[in-house]
Amino acid sequence: MVRPLIAGNWKMNGLKSALAEVEAVNTALADYPDKADCLICPPATLVAAMATKASARLKVGGQYCHNKSSGAHTGDISAEMLADAGASYVIVGHSERRDDHAERSAFVKSQAKAALQAGLIPIVCVGEDYQQRAKGETAEVIERVMRKSLPELSENAPGLVVAYEPKWAIGTGEIPTMAEIGEVHALIRRVLIDAYGEVGRSMPILYGGSMKPGNAAEILAVPEVNGGLIGGASLKAADFMAIYETAIQ
Ligand code: 13P
Repeated sequence: MVRPLIAGNWKMNGLKSALAEVEAVNTALADYPDKADCLICPPATLVAAMATKASARLKVGGQYCHNKSSGAHTGDISAEMLADAGASYVIVGHSERRDDHAERSAFVKSQAKAALQAGLIPIVCVGEDYQQRAKGETAEVIERVMRKSLPELSENAPGLVVAYEPKWAIGTGEIPTMAEIGEVHALIRRVLIDAYGEVGRSMPILYGGSMKPGNAAEILAVPEVNGGLIGGASLKAADFMAIYETAIQ
């Protein structure tokens, strides 16, 4: 049994005033049994403040990290800095980063390695685009990108999460069928077990892409879906907690 993880990715949204949502999440979490992990990845400017406000039940993460721990990289942020600010997870290889900043899988792998060295759990994102799905290439793309993006794991690694985010489902309101999600998640599990052995069975595999309170229960019931990576619906505590609630049923 994999412990579920409900993770919010705020992307480039959120000023200090948005920290009010954290109070609401803290309050809601206190009422739910501790049966799933809960995480918010705010923009880097809010990581430290959010970590201070978050209760022990709410984890905080970054959305990106460099693969070096420090140095002459203007505008960048290291995994060590995120950990120092109170983060315990970091998203790497999100398709928006792969597209906007030309981040290739070899770089994603090195980011994940840097995250692990800093004691952070990397959330490695993979997902096909619309054309790749239409051409029947989804499985091949997912496996290839995973094999290039997954870091080696040492014995004391804090953990690893994979997020399946079909690019065409992000922010569009469209989602794959439950059978399609199930097929990809089963493939991801096979690749994780192949890469890491037994420990690969307990790594959470998240679904991301237009997950909302209205479709979360159905998606979370698919075998090998162990949680969600939620964009738009994570910005308001009420929606985010409605999704969390479905994960602990
Ligand atoms: P949406 O939930 O807004 O579709 O975003 C998904 C996502 O990209 C999470 O990382």
